[in-house]
Amino acid sequence: MADVLDRLAAHRLVPVVVLDEARDAGPLADALVAGGLPVAEVTFRTAAAADAIRAIADRGGDVLVGAGTVITPAQVDAAVAAGAQYLVSPGTSRAVVERAQEHGVPVLPGAVTATEVQAALELGLDTVKFFPAGTSGGSAAIAALAAPFGGVRFVPTGGVGPGNLDQYLALPCVAAVGGSWMVPRDRVRAGDLAGVRTLIADAVALATRLRP
Ligand code: 3PG
Repeated sequence: MADVLDRLAAHRLVPVVVLDEARDAGPLADALVAGGLPVAEVTFRTAAAADAIRAIADRGGDVLVGAGTVITPAQVDAAVAAGAQYLVSPGTSRAVVERAQEHGVPVLPGAVTATEVQAALELGLDTVKFFPAGTSGGSAAIAALAAPFGGVRFVPTGGVGPGNLDQYLALPCVAAVGGSWMVPRDRVRAGDLAGVRTLIADAVALATRLRP
């Protein structure tokens, strides 16, 4: 389990993906690999999510594929059945976390307050999604939370992009940063995978430059 989170942390970036059509998953995976960031958080915001995750998982492991916007235990089951290697939730739900733990699949619940971080700790977790990062105090809030919660790692997502990535990646407690800017939904829908590959490569280059 820790291995998957360590691999996410090694990449430092998690593209948040909304796919309208499962058939776009394969070309998207190709673009992620070609861009140098073989990671995807495929969100359960569309009916295509489970099939898209399955399509990526079935490639045999070249992309670290997870499920995002997982808000019910049933979605946990569907995501794991499809081959999701990790799960991400916008908030901290005991039911979602415990179902993920039953499956033995790592889960990143959303937490932006001390109370929410403590709830995640009580569920046996040490890594949370800090969402929505931009409207929840940004990097200053994460730095403040890191003081009492020394062992907690954060994955800020929501309102993060090339203009403020440096603020988040500068924090030692930030394991990785998530965002949709790397895989815009309209570009995928339009079939502009070359454009997506460029955005991915640009993000990787930026994160590499910012590496402490
Ligand atoms: C998420 O689910 O993580 C967010 O919707 C991503 O936020 P962003 O679109 O601001 O990157």
